[in-house]
Amino acid sequence: MTAVTLTKTALSEVKADAIVVGVSSGRGGPSLLPGAADVDKAFKKDLLATLKAMGATGKAGEVVKLATLGRTAAPALVAVGVGPTPAKGEGYDAEAIRRGVGAAVRSLAGTAARVATALASANGDGDLDTLRAVTEGAHLGGYSFSRYHTGASRQARPVGSVVLVLKDPRDKKVRAVVERAAVIGEVVSLARDLVNTPPGDLRPDAFAQAAVDACSAAGCDVQVLDEKALADGGYGGILGVGAGSSNPPRLVRIAYDAGRSAKTTVHLVGKGITFDSGGLSLKPAQAMEWMKSDMGGAAAVIATLRAVAQLKPAVNVVGWVPTAENMPSGHAIRPSDVLTMRGGKTVEVLNTDAEGRLILADAIARAAEEKPDIIIDVATLTGAQLVALGSRVYAVMANDDTLRTEITSVAEAAGEQAWPMPLPDELRKSLDSEVADIANVGDRYGGMLVAGIFLKEFVPDGVRWAHLDIAGPSFNQGESHGYTPKGGTGVPIRTLVDFIDTLA
Ligand code: BES
Ligand code: MN
Ligand code: ZN
Repeated sequence: MTAVTLTKTALSEVKADAIVVGVSSGRGGPSLLPGAADVDKAFKKDLLATLKAMGATGKAGEVVKLATLGRTAAPALVAVGVGPTPAKGEGYDAEAIRRGVGAAVRSLAGTAARVATALASANGDGDLDTLRAVTEGAHLGGYSFSRYHTGASRQARPVGSVVLVLKDPRDKKVRAVVERAAVIGEVVSLARDLVNTPPGDLRPDAFAQAAVDACSAAGCDVQVLDEKALADGGYGGILGVGAGSSNPPRLVRIAYDAGRSAKTTVHLVGKGITFDSGGLSLKPAQAMEWMKSDMGGAAAVIATLRAVAQLKPAVNVVGWVPTAENMPSGHAIRPSDVLTMRGGKTVEVLNTDAEGRLILADAIARAAEEKPDIIIDVATLTGAQLVALGSRVYAVMANDDTLRTEITSVAEAAGEQAWPMPLPDELRKSLDSEVADIANVGDRYGGMLVAGIFLKEFVPDGVRWAHLDIAGPSFNQGESHGYTPKGGTGVPIRTLVDFIDTLA
């Protein structure tokens, strides 16, 4: 984990291995972001010209490196592009800065242990949104997953600490923002680690234990239902999906109790398929390659509970993690089998690869028994999500227009990309079954919405509910970018933690 510290020493004088400045792209060519003035002075006002000579344009994602040759205390300088210079009176976009800092920190892995930047003052001293973005960018960009690298394959060592230059490092509000961002950084790393861990090393029992370890230590009450308790409780969906695996399923309940001050209770439900082979409706080999990430929703829920337990908002939060391994075997459920779910509804399983909705339905039904104000489920639910919105924008569906809008706007402010999607009633009939109350697959067109409509059947009237399909955004199959590494990303933890804050 990258540490973040504060100083008021001028950036040119901070003893670091590298300093980071920002460059934006303007109509009249690139320009330096505020916070680089004293470094520019140390460069005899030649910094921008030098950067331009090295190819800097200020476009988002760009990283240009210079040797400072004794002009500053740090021997190296990194200039990151943050995109267009804002119009007069407007600030630099916080997410562009978060990405820029993330890209800079990532690019310095292996060469710098200690990095400094004054980008927190890009929008003026004391702008807390910018401070938050810089701090989060440093933490999220400093992540690496090194558990399985040995000897020669060892990865470049990530940046160890980032020093933020700002006017008043002792200011209470400043410290609070920096501490909160450290919590976010820590729990996002936890979720990324869980997602990146190979599925043979994180089967349902181990995953449930990881939830216990992460959340009891932070002060949550954590309970785990094993296969026997699941049978006693009538959890046909979780048991059915887990039936093909030699490692039985679990249901984890994680509770953060805010005490007397809390007026609202929100339940989070995360899909925790530790590996999705498709079951007897087996996936082709290529489609299985990244299916260790099919517990990304559950990882985000565990991480959010751990964050909330540390940040202590005045909101009660309960997390549910149904976890199973979806495998083919002589014990596996078959297409056309009927499962009786928690609460008594029956489901005809026409495709064992539509397993996420089965374990979520049980967990949503169970959560609803506690009569929460809001239920939010988070799931790598459909390939159709990637078709509809691509790999970086997750979908938000809901039985309540206000809730859906609240979540997408919180996401936007937090720097996560989310988009509203409908749940059209006419798609429900495609889920009609000849032999049971509902089938687990329906119309192929609008597959993401059909999955949402299936889940909606398990939400009682009167409970506000939202469904986040994060199939693409929770796992980066492409190149790393900004503060996002390859593999697990931690989406949508920042949205969830901020959303809970809005309820306090
Ligand atoms: N875990 C997959 C969805 C998925 C696909 C997540 C790609 C991440 C990347 C899910 O369990 C699944 O297999 N869904 C099926 C549903 C279909 C059988 C109705 C799908 O999307 O193909
Ligand atoms: Mn599947
Ligand atoms: Zn799945």
